[in-house]
Amino acid sequence: MTETPTRRRATFNTLTVKNVRKLTSDAVEVIFDVPADLAEDYNYVPGQYVALRATIDGKEVRRSYSICSEPTPGEVHVAIKKDFGGVFSTWANETLAAGDTIDVMNPQGAFISKKNITSMNNPDQVASDALAGGNLHLVAFAAGSGITPIMSIARSVLGQSEQTTFDLVYANKSAMDVMFAEELGDLKDKYPTRFAVHHVLSREQRVSELMSGRIDAAKLESLLDHVIRTEATDEWFLCGPFELVQLCRDTLAERGVSEDDIRYELFTTGKPEQPTGQQGRTVEADPAGANFAISFTLDGTSSRVESPTSAHETLLNAALRVRADVPFACAGGVCGTCRAKVIEGDVEMEENYALEKDEVDAGYVLTCQSRPCSDSVKIDFDA
Ligand code: FES
Repeated sequence: MTETPTRRRATFNTLTVKNVRKLTSDAVEVIFDVPADLAEDYNYVPGQYVALRATIDGKEVRRSYSICSEPTPGEVHVAIKKDFGGVFSTWANETLAAGDTIDVMNPQGAFISKKNITSMNNPDQVASDALAGGNLHLVAFAAGSGITPIMSIARSVLGQSEQTTFDLVYANKSAMDVMFAEELGDLKDKYPTRFAVHHVLSREQRVSELMSGRIDAAKLESLLDHVIRTEATDEWFLCGPFELVQLCRDTLAERGVSEDDIRYELFTTGKPEQPTGQQGRTVEADPAGANFAISFTLDGTSSRVESPTSAHETLLNAALRVRADVPFACAGGVCGTCRAKVIEGDVEMEENYALEKDEVDAGYVLTCQSRPCSDSVKIDFDA
C-alpha cells in the first residue's frame, strides 16, 4: 500500500502545467501533470499543500499553495489568488500557461481531517468506516483563498460517508471574490442535506445582517450561536489570515472546544518574510572563533557550518550557506517544510504555526524560526 505521510522529506521535481483555469478576476486554478514515475511522491491527503519554486526577474521565489482537488491520479490542482504586490501570485495569474514547467514540491502538511478516515493509505478501512456510520459533523471557517484546502477536505469527507455533514462559513469582500463558486454550488446540489455554505460578505449588504460585514468577535459569537451546531461539531477547520484564525481559536477555546479538535492553517503570520537563501549566504564564520557549530543531516549526508554568534542567524539560514537543497518554503513558521529534529544542543524557536504539540514535545523544530542557544547544535532533517 502506498504511504501518504503528512510529514515527509520535501523534494522538488519539475512538473508540466496541464491547464490554467480562471476562477475569479484575480485567481486561477493551476493543474500540474504528475508523471507515472512520480505518482507515489505526489499522492496526498486532502488539505495538504505543495510549495512552488520559480525564478522571476532573476530571483528565486517560493510560495506554498493548498491543493484544491480530491486526490486525482496523475494530477495536482492548486488555486493561486493574486495578492496585492505579490510577485509569485501575479506572475502565476498573468504569465503561467499550459505547457510551462515549474518546480513543485511533493505534498506536505498536517491540515487534514483526523476524525475522518481521509488517508488514501487505507481505502478498505475508509469504506468500512463509512459504512459503519462515520456520522461526523465538521465545520470550516475560511476566508478568501483559505477555501482551497477546505474544498479538497469537504469533497473528500462528504464522498466517504453518507452520514457526514459539513458546514462552511466562507468570508469574502463581495460575491465577485468568491472562489470555487460553481463548485460550491455543485457540492450543495450533490449533498443538499449534508453540506451547507454560509457566505459572509464584508463589503456587500446581504439580506441577513449576520451575513454582512467583517467577522469580528460579536459576529462570530452569533454565528456559533445561531448558524453552526457548535455543540455537535466533531472537528473544526480554520483557514485564512492570522486575525480570523486566532479569533476563532480563542473563541472556540473559551467555549470549551478542545485544541485537539481544531485544525488551522494560516496564509501568513503577518510578519515580513525572513531573509533566507541568498541573503543568508553573505554571513561568514567569525575568525576569532565566536561561532555556533551547527551540524545537520539531510538526505543521509552530514554537513557542518560555523555560524557567528554575533549574527545569531536561524538554523535554516546557516544550513543554506553550505547546502542549497535544505528544504523551506514560507520562511515564516507557517508551512512546516523546514522541520528538523534537534539531536544535540539547545535551540530557541520564535514562532510556530505549523508543528503539532506532540512534534514539539518529540524535539522537532521549524529551522526557519529556530536559533542556537548552545555552542554546538546537531539537527536531523531526515528524522
Ligand atoms: S519554511 Fe515554512 S515553516 Fe519554515
